[in-house]
Amino acid sequence: MSKGRKARDVFGSKFGIIAAAAGSAIGLGNIWKFPYITGEYGGAAFLFVYLGFIAAVGLPVMLSEFVIGRKARRNAYGSFKKLAPKSLWQNVGFLGVLAAFLILSFYGVVAGWSLKYVFFSINNTLAASSPSEIEATFNRFITSPGPPLLYQLIFMVLTGLIVVIGVKKGIERYAKILMPILLVIIIILDIRAITLPGSMEGLKFLFKPDFSKLSWDAILNALGHAFFSLSLGMGTLITYGSYIDKKNNLMNTALEVTIADTVIALLAGIAIIPAVFAFNIEPGTGPGLVFITLPNVFNQMHGGQFFSILFFLLLSVAALTSSISILEVVVAFFTEELNLTRPIATVLATILAALMGIICSLSMGIYSDYTFMCFNFFDLLDFISANILLPLGGLFIAIFIGWKFGKYKVFKEMAHGGSLKGYFLSAFMILVRFVAPISIFIVFLFGLYEKLHGCLF
Ligand code: TRP
Repeated sequence: MSKGRKARDVFGSKFGIIAAAAGSAIGLGNIWKFPYITGEYGGAAFLFVYLGFIAAVGLPVMLSEFVIGRKARRNAYGSFKKLAPKSLWQNVGFLGVLAAFLILSFYGVVAGWSLKYVFFSINNTLAASSPSEIEATFNRFITSPGPPLLYQLIFMVLTGLIVVIGVKKGIERYAKILMPILLVIIIILDIRAITLPGSMEGLKFLFKPDFSKLSWDAILNALGHAFFSLSLGMGTLITYGSYIDKKNNLMNTALEVTIADTVIALLAGIAIIPAVFAFNIEPGTGPGLVFITLPNVFNQMHGGQFFSILFFLLLSVAALTSSISILEVVVAFFTEELNLTRPIATVLATILAALMGIICSLSMGIYSDYTFMCFNFFDLLDFISANILLPLGGLFIAIFIGWKFGKYKVFKEMAHGGSLKGYFLSAFMILVRFVAPISIFIVFLFGLYEKLHGCLF
């Protein structure tokens, strides 16, 4: 047996499993990305499509990843190799490891921005600023060559340190305390945001759908974001599933993680979108949205500075519990497949992702003239990973569980840790066999065509 295999960790408790998996799912995707893409793609119609994908595609794929990981007890690549030896399936795992690198590199950049905003808040830098000054400060910061790199680097080092220590003693323990605090802070921000004068327009934008606004590009983004937000399609939850004990009821775990992730995204949307309207900010502002609207909200609150510090601190923590889960995919692969020790694997993976992150960060400023199709490097990584690699990974994972693995084995793995009603399994099989693959395939074709067509011609 290799060193890597002996070192296999197991999560300590049921709550620990939920905290770690929800910690992975809940991150920048919910609080930074969800509000701004909802703004860009026109609000409620996008939101409803997104929710549909979460239920019909996200949840079954999440359960599939857990089943694969717990059954095989290996990293993403090794799991496929073990469950379907000498086949092409292991390439799905390999693709996942690749996607992990791409995601981690731009994730670290945005998490770095969040760290910087902790210091902005401590120094009360934005307290006396007007909405347009707040926007200018953000743009000046992310386009400057030096400071964003420093914060990105700090964040990557933190990620690496926790992964070296091991998931159980580090992040599992803190996630259990910190994630509930994040929830409370967001609810307080929600209350402030919806009581601002003019916020009603925002709520309408968020909840009153106009389906005529929907494009295939928007639908592809909704699907891609469902995968991104739930941490699916690249083996994060296969890897975490491999640390789940046999007693755990995987279906309940998947359901609870999905609900937690969705609730946090909705609460973040309610904290941000109404404020966008109250302060006359453009909802399609893009990646800066959370960093531009929320400081305005804080400026309108009693104790705004306190909440601002706490919010950006907790956003950074939420990002950290996600980034470690991405890094863990690569580290588990390096240790188990390449027989590297955990520290060496971690250092290597962290350095590679940080280097790519540097290019990503600079593509906001000095490299912004270098574009490929319609994308700068940052947007390109985001697009390739979230809108191509994750749905593709999810498609193969669903097909694997639906058509290759065997219904009886799926049933056995899912029924561990409790009883399982037959009709649940049948519903699940219909989703993984037909609904998920077919909808991913269609959205993928039309969405990609529309995006590339709009870009190239
Ligand atoms: N889900 C996390 C977020 O919403 C990011 C993340 C963690 C992720 N692991 C992943 C995204 C795996 C895609 C795949 O911020």
